[in-house]
Amino acid sequence: MLNPQNILITGASSGIGRALAIAYSKAGVNLFLCARNQENLQQTKTLCENLKANVYIKILDVCDQLASKKWLDEIEQEYSLDLVIANAGISAGTSQGTESFEQVQEIFNTNLNGVLNIIHPAIEKMLKRKNGQIAVISSLAGFRGLPSSPAYSASKSAVRVYCEGLRGNLQKFGIKVNAVCPGYVRSNMTAVNNFYMPFLMDTDKACDIIIKGLAKNKSRIAFPFALYFVVWLLTLISTKITDPLFAMLPSKSAMKK
Ligand SMILES: NC(=O)c1ccc[n+]([C@@H]2O[C@H](COP(=O)([O-])OP(=O)(O)OC[C@H]3O[C@@H](n4cnc5c(N)ncnc54)[C@H](OP(=O)(O)O)[C@@H]3O)[C@@H](O)[C@H]2O)c1
Repeated sequence: MLNPQNILITGASSGIGRALAIAYSKAGVNLFLCARNQENLQQTKTLCENLKANVYIKILDVCDQLASKKWLDEIEQEYSLDLVIANAGISAGTSQGTESFEQVQEIFNTNLNGVLNIIHPAIEKMLKRKNGQIAVISSLAGFRGLPSSPAYSASKSAVRVYCEGLRGNLQKFGIKVNAVCPGYVRSNMTAVNNFYMPFLMDTDKACDIIIKGLAKNKSRIAFPFALYFVVWLLTLISTKITDPLFAMLPSKSAMKK
């Protein structure tokens, strides 16, 4: 969608979410931003207001289904959301050997249920007016189960595939759906990685690609192209060959207890 006016972004207190909020900021734009950290979210609000956007922040855990629906309902009493970006997410891996069940649950709850809790109330409203755009931040890590972060890669795969299905299903009702699949982007999430991250990209550049892709209503916004190409190629090769390769990848840190 070109020039959305009413935009909701989850996970806007840092990283890609904050950078998207800033990039969309201009006079006349209404931004609805959520996250759990009040201080950081307030900082995003100030940065966006300096660029003349109207900013409404909400301290919200996207895992809370009722609170997420209530927030969407409240916004929609006054505004019609043009664009909803389900960006909030967490990551953790197997640096300590295996993933605990608690870690797996928390990752799926945030990265999958946290997305559904936001986009479903939004879709409900958009269906009534036959207009709107839903974008979900997946990952290039979601194209193949990674031994270094099984739950994270599976959660990102699930939301991408769900978006692909939804896109075809909701097109006839006037709703656009886009899956965003970034490679490594500089943020709090990647700052903890103590391994080499190929094609690591600045958040501003990543946002530029995301915003252009959403304006063109691209089904899948996957970048950087070189890493996407390698990932895509690896999915075509027999797992007999790729299993040992993936097993050699460095692990992401496990979640702190
Ligand atoms: N950075 C990368 O290389 C990369 C690559 C591919 C995909 N992604 C995806 O991009 C998205 C943004 O990540 P990022 O890189 O910008 O990392 P980040 O700086 O850690 O940002 C994550 C954001 O999600 C919010 N969040 C996490 N859990 C939440 C919850 N339960 N409820 C509400 N907000 C929550 C965080 O805010 P609070 O802590 O304040 O709640 C924060 O604003 C994630 O979905 C991530 O998986 C990132």
